[in-house]
Amino acid sequence: MSEPPNFAPRPNDADANAQWGGRFAAGPSAIMQRINASIDVDARLWRQDIRGSLAHAAMLARAGIISAEDERAIAGGLEAIAEEIEAGAFGFAEALEDIHMNIEARLTERIGEAGRRLHTARSRNDQVATDFRLWIRDAIDGLDAQLADTMRALAERAAAHAADPMPGFTHLQTAQPVTFGHHLLAYVEMLSRDRGRLADCRRRLNQSPLGAAALAGTSFPIDPAATAAALGFDGPCANSLDAVSDRDFALEFLAAAAISAVHLSRLAEEIVIWCSAPFRFIALSDAFTTGSSIMPQKRNPDAAELVRAKTGRVTGALVSLLTVMKGLPLAYAKDMQEDKQPVFDAVDAWALSLAAIAGMVRDMTADVARMRAHAGAGFATATDLADWLVRVGRLPFRTAHHVTGRLVALAEASGVELAGLTLEEMQGVAPEITEDVFSALTVDASVASRTSPGGTAPANVARQAARWAALLVAVALLLPLAGCGKRGNPTAPGPPDQVTYPKTYPTR
Ligand code: ARG
Repeated sequence: MSEPPNFAPRPNDADANAQWGGRFAAGPSAIMQRINASIDVDARLWRQDIRGSLAHAAMLARAGIISAEDERAIAGGLEAIAEEIEAGAFGFAEALEDIHMNIEARLTERIGEAGRRLHTARSRNDQVATDFRLWIRDAIDGLDAQLADTMRALAERAAAHAADPMPGFTHLQTAQPVTFGHHLLAYVEMLSRDRGRLADCRRRLNQSPLGAAALAGTSFPIDPAATAAALGFDGPCANSLDAVSDRDFALEFLAAAAISAVHLSRLAEEIVIWCSAPFRFIALSDAFTTGSSIMPQKRNPDAAELVRAKTGRVTGALVSLLTVMKGLPLAYAKDMQEDKQPVFDAVDAWALSLAAIAGMVRDMTADVARMRAHAGAGFATATDLADWLVRVGRLPFRTAHHVTGRLVALAEASGVELAGLTLEEMQGVAPEITEDVFSALTVDASVASRTSPGGTAPANVARQAARWAALLVAVALLLPLAGCGKRGNPTAPGPPDQVTYPKTYPTR
């Protein structure tokens, strides 16, 4: 049946979807509408959707596919819609399914016929893939800045505690003394790799799906390189099927998020341990603790616990999207609409966790005397004794290890630390031991001796902390100059997107 030439309304036509309802005589059931709609989630893509449409319309006009006049009307309309959304004056409608159709419908409402030309040579499939890449790219820039800030907080504290010994653990058993600064810098290295993963992800995602249309490309003489350039992409995607049907950019982002969340969770766990009463290595500030409603003495590290817990959400998001994508035939399938919720959720959890960790690290006070006292306990310098036996006593390491083990057993039986044994007691086990050995058994001597590259010697730690501080300051200064951070749209704020959307939808 051909379309009625004048688009005269048919029975129930008013209920059919204005964007795609041409072949439908009736509207969807309420349940169909509910399950199909994504506006409650994807409204957060509005900035990217408008950016994408502005670039698309400009290209259509330059290619002579729409008139310059229509393009001007479209651009003006989209900018006015951006202001409406910004001001909270836009009525999102569930009946219009998603952000793309909400904005397009409003555009036509505002500017008439020209609005109906915007979707020429485009499908929601390449549109949503473009919007989502842009959104994740903005998110990456915001998260990268937050990671750098958290690293800066850690490096500053590391510089201050470069020479403060604490017990280093393996198996959470006292192993060897390290400095608190060295321990904090370990996390700086981890977060630095998290930034590297984000940079890799950004590089690979930075291709524009626009022009792929539904799946096969388009018969219109479009210029995808132009839209790609206008949106700050490195170029268009090479395969239209791939462009609309893969979400590996989101998966890669979530994998990076999951790894980073695990890093933050490990630090959060250490914070919980360090501020527990038996440890008391650090105290968190009032600003980052809560009290108990029944136990007046309590100061709970809730923020650290919640950072630890939010890791579940972030890794869950990765598993969720992997599961959505698994087994989907090419090209687009509606399953893929479920890609945004996990990404938004992971970004919110990650961004908040980073802010909480940076805040806790900046605010915490370290009890350096207590850390130092514990650094030497539990025979923490036994390895230093064995190393002394190798270096000065000329014993093979295995022999030195065995001799030291016997000395530890002796000290343990006498209820003292190694330095509490007398020279005579030591010589009873190993005659080559001299008075000089005691100089190797202090925690300061122990950490100072670890001068191997990457080791815990205070001079090394101070150098590393200073290197990071300088690097991070340089990055903070250079980023805006290089135009990074907000590439493609200097006005778009990084996530978390503060705009919240009502769960009920005002109908227009
Ligand atoms: N809201 C949809 C999504 O996020 C947009 C794409 C819809 N495409 C389609 N062929 N129905 O996936």
